[in-house]
Amino acid sequence: MQIIFHEKTKTFHLYNHEISYIMTVLPGGQLGQLYFGKAVRDREDFSHLAEYSFRNMASYLSEDQDTVSLEHLKQEYPVYGTTDYREPAVEVIQTNGSRLSDLSYAGFLIIQGKPQLPGLPAVYVEKEDEAATLIITLKDSVTGLSVQLFYTIFEERPVITRSVCFTNQGCEALHLGRAMSLSMDFPDCDYEWLQFSGVWARERHLKTRNLEPGIVSVGSMRGSSSHEHNPFIILKRPHTDESQGEAVGFSLIYSGNFLAQAEVDNQNVTRILLGIHPDTFDWKLEPGADFQTPEAVMAYTCRGLNELSQSFHSLYQKRLARGYWRDRPRPILLNNWEATYFDFNEDLLVEIADRAKKCGVELFVLDDGWFGARRNDRAGLGDWTANKELLPDGISGLSKRIEALGMKFGLWFEPEMVNADSDLYRAHPDWILQMPGRRASLGRHQHVLDFSRKEVVDCIYNMMAALLREAKISYIKWDMNRYITECYCAALPADQQGEVFHRYILGVYDLYERLTSEFPHVLFESCASGGARFDPGMLYYAPQAWTSDDTDAIERLKIQYGTSYCYPVSSMGSHVSAVPNHQLHRNTPLYTRANTAYFGTFGYELDLNKLTEDEREEVKKQIAFMKEYRGLIQFGTFYRLCSPFEGNITAWMVVSPDKKTAIIGWYKTLNQVNAPFSRIRLQGLDPELCYHLEGCSQTFYGDELMNAGLITSDSMCGEYKNRRPGCDFDSRLFIFKA
Ligand code: GLA
Repeated sequence: MQIIFHEKTKTFHLYNHEISYIMTVLPGGQLGQLYFGKAVRDREDFSHLAEYSFRNMASYLSEDQDTVSLEHLKQEYPVYGTTDYREPAVEVIQTNGSRLSDLSYAGFLIIQGKPQLPGLPAVYVEKEDEAATLIITLKDSVTGLSVQLFYTIFEERPVITRSVCFTNQGCEALHLGRAMSLSMDFPDCDYEWLQFSGVWARERHLKTRNLEPGIVSVGSMRGSSSHEHNPFIILKRPHTDESQGEAVGFSLIYSGNFLAQAEVDNQNVTRILLGIHPDTFDWKLEPGADFQTPEAVMAYTCRGLNELSQSFHSLYQKRLARGYWRDRPRPILLNNWEATYFDFNEDLLVEIADRAKKCGVELFVLDDGWFGARRNDRAGLGDWTANKELLPDGISGLSKRIEALGMKFGLWFEPEMVNADSDLYRAHPDWILQMPGRRASLGRHQHVLDFSRKEVVDCIYNMMAALLREAKISYIKWDMNRYITECYCAALPADQQGEVFHRYILGVYDLYERLTSEFPHVLFESCASGGARFDPGMLYYAPQAWTSDDTDAIERLKIQYGTSYCYPVSSMGSHVSAVPNHQLHRNTPLYTRANTAYFGTFGYELDLNKLTEDEREEVKKQIAFMKEYRGLIQFGTFYRLCSPFEGNITAWMVVSPDKKTAIIGWYKTLNQVNAPFSRIRLQGLDPELCYHLEGCSQTFYGDELMNAGLITSDSMCGEYKNRRPGCDFDSRLFIFKA
């Protein structure tokens, strides 16, 4: 890994054995982008990669440089209005009304390791020699704005992280109307754009389209990264598939409003922008003040989408997630939400937990409904003390009873919200996000607390920390069940109202930071009506997230498959729930519900007392299986094999680091009569090793399984011939051991 500056040509080259990233100072002083992709050897001069040509209708910077038009140059951090007509990375509004900037190269610094971003989640290093960081300074001589571009390259990862820090070195206040974390100009547009989109209970479905001239974008202006879109996109070459070909993934480590955009210009150059959504952003930068953007991550592969995903999985698992639970297999939990909803009392909870314990469950989670006056979703949010009618001895009393069963105890919170029917709201009606004189819209009967205000965050922190100190709580599910409307902060002046969305999410991060550092052994699971905040920002604080409120095993295939493009198995909360399924009213076999949920953190979302004795025996076996294999499943190398977005069969697999154990999950949505022969080609095995398939006397070589494939039709071998005749929503696990 190297970061080299060639003084003579003013060229920067960041490279490791996988990737190269090359920039140069352009004739007008701007920073130009020359290359990002597979590693190329270093040389003094890469200036031939910058193309200059005179074009009709192009505006150019000066009379003697009519080939220097920013519209036709690939840049690192472009501005609008001085010969580039594409959407810019930055927009600065000045007191004279001008929005023009001109950012010229002013210097650089190379440091070992990677600096952290104050108040923001970011990728980190454990040792300085894991990575090096280049900081390039650009300056606008008219406004005095200084822009520092941060680039970190890692020794062992095909990844560049980027962020930007602005400092106002002028003597007048400036407004940042747009401050993207990343801008990247690619020399052509021969790409497909992949996005991960959906809605409540249908999150992160893969959508693909070709790039054409014009703009394609996804984003959120809801106050969270949202169910609708994810701050993650991929550009892939048309022929790239899971196991071969080029692709670049772009991910934003942020949980608030974002924009991810590709603009293909009139000469087929593709500009990617990624950062805070500019439409809901306006940050006042007083003289001397700084503004730090969230961090963006770019990963490159020339070996297909599985490898691209694995780069994100490993980075986010090992160098974004933190703390005690980062590398630990996750406890198998039972959550009472779909078992009882609001209809419980302490004895019923203990009864449910007791049965769960007897089946092998390790953690009992009490979901919504335990606090204040909450007996339905119209009251109580904001009052984080136990409802004594339900829990006579409070949370600590219940927790003691759960611990006495030999289980850990976990608890649900929705810290950012308040119901009008709550003591907190009655005491502080002005603590919600609202515009005085206008209606305060509702979502799920609740308001959003103004987390841009420190006193609000302090108050919630005090309530939560008091409970965590008093009762033995091993896990917290942190929910967020509505989007933000009427985003206005009573405590900020008029010219800072454009800061509220971002300040809000900084308040959320601050509360997470305080709680996770004071209670380092508590496992946090983030949640936002299922997967409305399934983003890397959250993973920095909470190493797992409730993937979706849709717990149907077949629906979950698409959700988990789509999620896996960026996020590791260890981050995906996935539970076995009751049938008929509560969201879809579908019946699926118990084994299929488990076979899907295994590829996540695993748990149950039902009352095991309501199952038959036979079903409970099956549950015991499921739990024993997961205890044996969760380390491998959650932290092994994950491969997608057959896509639920393309057909009736879904398949994926995990392989241990030594390649000696592999588990394949195979799922069939609808049964077929007289079905055709079928096989899937496995990935990631050792071609030389001979594998034994559990439950079958046949052995197979790795090369055979990866090239000839694993036969999945029932003709496979004697044992399978006599298996059940198949059904809708069928599934199988194949366990291979070398
Ligand atoms: C959200 C969550 C659910 C559950 C409910 C409780 O919808 O996603 O898992 O916690 O809230 O109100």
